[in-house]
Amino acid sequence: MNEREFRRHTASLRSLLNKRIASLFRRKNPRELHTAGRYVLTAGGKRIRSILLLLAAETVGGRPKDALDAGVAVELMHNFTLIHDDVMDHAKTRRGRPTVHVRWDINHAILVGDVMLGFAYDVLLRAPRKNAQYISRLFTKRLISVCEGQALDLTLGSGGNATVKEYMEMIDKKTGALIVLSSELGGVVGGGTGKQVRALREYGKYLGRAFQLQDDLLDVVADEKRLGKAIGGDIMEGKRTFLYITTMERASTSDRRFLTRAFSAQHRPVHGRALVRRVQSLYREYESIERTRAMIERNTAKALAKLQQIPPSRSRDMLHHMARVLASRHI
Ligand code: IPE
Ligand code: IPE
Ligand code: MG
Ligand code: MG
Ligand code: MG
Repeated sequence: MNEREFRRHTASLRSLLNKRIASLFRRKNPRELHTAGRYVLTAGGKRIRSILLLLAAETVGGRPKDALDAGVAVELMHNFTLIHDDVMDHAKTRRGRPTVHVRWDINHAILVGDVMLGFAYDVLLRAPRKNAQYISRLFTKRLISVCEGQALDLTLGSGGNATVKEYMEMIDKKTGALIVLSSELGGVVGGGTGKQVRALREYGKYLGRAFQLQDDLLDVVADEKRLGKAIGGDIMEGKRTFLYITTMERASTSDRRFLTRAFSAQHRPVHGRALVRRVQSLYREYESIERTRAMIERNTAKALAKLQQIPPSRSRDMLHHMARVLASRHI
């Protein structure tokens, strides 16, 4: 399987998903609520999680068509988390557009997020399935993890230095949980065996880690226009990303003192852009970009190793390709 085949297949899955999503969001009233919902869902997300779910279903012998609703449900849950995340992170742009709380207001952002989660459950449980209870419990379990991860994201490092271990626990929950859900649920609705679902879950775990590490990295190195989100947002918000933690571990006493002050709540808003640039140059000076890249590579390799536990197929190759593509993404 080559790059072109991968692109073609994932593009066709994406268009299947987008059609299904469009068909669900036809409600008219209250107008602002549903207009804002459509605004988010037509903004051009990559649809990574739902595509992953469909590929996982195919890998265990299922048909994408039968996994479509579960894929859409995961995508809706993801979009719900983004809307609320942007409020929490004071983010002004996403996917190249103003965020919901900027374009509308915080109350609408809360409600659009909530309603999207409602739609997610509705579509997840639409088709009768004999394992519906298992599926809805799995979905709920991962949702709770995301909320816990987001709560950890708010407090990480507030009581002193954050460790890599604490960081990993936080990202496994805030981001990994949904990527794990995508791969495992794909396995479940695709009719996979227990062993296959376990392998997909492990694959998702390492893929999720690599994904968030890459997201942290992009906040420092990406082209802002292309990314569609503001660069340096993590620094301005004082986020203890992998780059921050790994820099702190090796920085001189005076650089560490500077970073500690810069990331403490009362100093952040004063410095603005100049502070972001100085922190970024410290990240470079202490080779934290390279260290983050190495960590992404290590986790991607672990994800790929887990795939070996599933019988080879064209779809398994697609999952392999997916991990590679995500590790070198620019958006
Ligand atoms: C962004 O996810 C949020 C994270 C967990 C890092 P994506 O990068 O998948 O966002 P979209 O859906 O493609 O915009
Ligand atoms: C995203 O983490 C986690 C969730 C949305 C649950 P970030 O806050 O880093 O995501 P972006 O960078 O805003 O997309
Ligand atoms: Mg954010
Ligand atoms: Mg966040
Ligand atoms: Mg981020």
